[in-house]
Amino acid sequence: MTLAVGVDIGGTKIATGLVSEDGKILDSVSEPTPDDATKIPAVVADLVERLVGDEQAAGIGIGAAGFVGEDRSTVRFAPNIDWREEPLGERVRALVDLPVVVENDANAAAWGEFRFGAGEDTDDLLLVTIGTGIGGGIVHRGRLFRGGFGVAAEIGHMRVVPDGILCGCGQHGCWEQYASGSALVRNARERVANEDEGSEAIAALGDGDLSKITGPAITKLAQQGDALAIELLAELGRWMGEGIAVLSAILDPSVIAIGGGVGAAGDLLMTPVVEAFEAHLPARAHRPEAALRLAALGNEAGIIGAADLARVEPNHG
Ligand code: BGC
Ligand code: NA
Ligand code: ZN
Repeated sequence: MTLAVGVDIGGTKIATGLVSEDGKILDSVSEPTPDDATKIPAVVADLVERLVGDEQAAGIGIGAAGFVGEDRSTVRFAPNIDWREEPLGERVRALVDLPVVVENDANAAAWGEFRFGAGEDTDDLLLVTIGTGIGGGIVHRGRLFRGGFGVAAEIGHMRVVPDGILCGCGQHGCWEQYASGSALVRNARERVANEDEGSEAIAALGDGDLSKITGPAITKLAQQGDALAIELLAELGRWMGEGIAVLSAILDPSVIAIGGGVGAAGDLLMTPVVEAFEAHLPARAHRPEAALRLAALGNEAGIIGAADLARVEPNHG
């Protein structure tokens, strides 16, 4: 049984797992993402060492939340982490003596879902991850779609509002400014700051400190029946459903899986997603419709997919 290490570097946390050939995480460790991005390779190396210990691992797959070049080593740009032309693979490779493959985080998660999760029964999967940003991964005919330069499927930067909110990518009105976990939190804080009617329970989460209002806490409140928390999730869901209707027109996936932290909201998210998707799908009733599902591997998809890529598509040299 060959083991491989999967690493998922997101805007808030670096999670690593030791993964078996059949996509099971045997052990995992994580740390918050350091604010100083130059410290990331050392944190990754340290986590990998703690994780692997005396075991044998075939290699390291890293899913990174940014535009990863065709060399599958360099992060050219990241909207939510301070990376510009960052030779991430090389830097980690210099600290740990194992082959390293870098892939976009959502691509890695899509690969994980395709191999072992919500996309196991299809060859044409679109995975959308809702977290700090919105990530996309496209599996077409059983292969990861990387585009002409390696940076395909940056669906979070599809413009949905002309001259809308400024995005970390430099443009205005990107989808991730409306349908990500960060957007959910931003909207919730705004309601509290305005002392909107019904915002008391969300305000109490922060206890006077807006920064304490987090996505998971809003989801939990919604599950307990708080009307505003439910409405904020539904708003996110509507933006999500409209966006995937557009993407369906382009990609025609047979399965669309929704993953990332906000997926924990379950039906509170999915019901509005499905409604908006159906309402906005071009030529609906005259075309087959993708099956919409929650991702099956939750927040572990990226780790599992990255580890699998390290095994099936290692970077040589
Ligand atoms: C980045 C993507 C990433 C996604 C999810 C976006 O802001 O541009 O590269 O996959 O966030 O982390
Ligand atoms: Na992607
Ligand atoms: Zn953008």
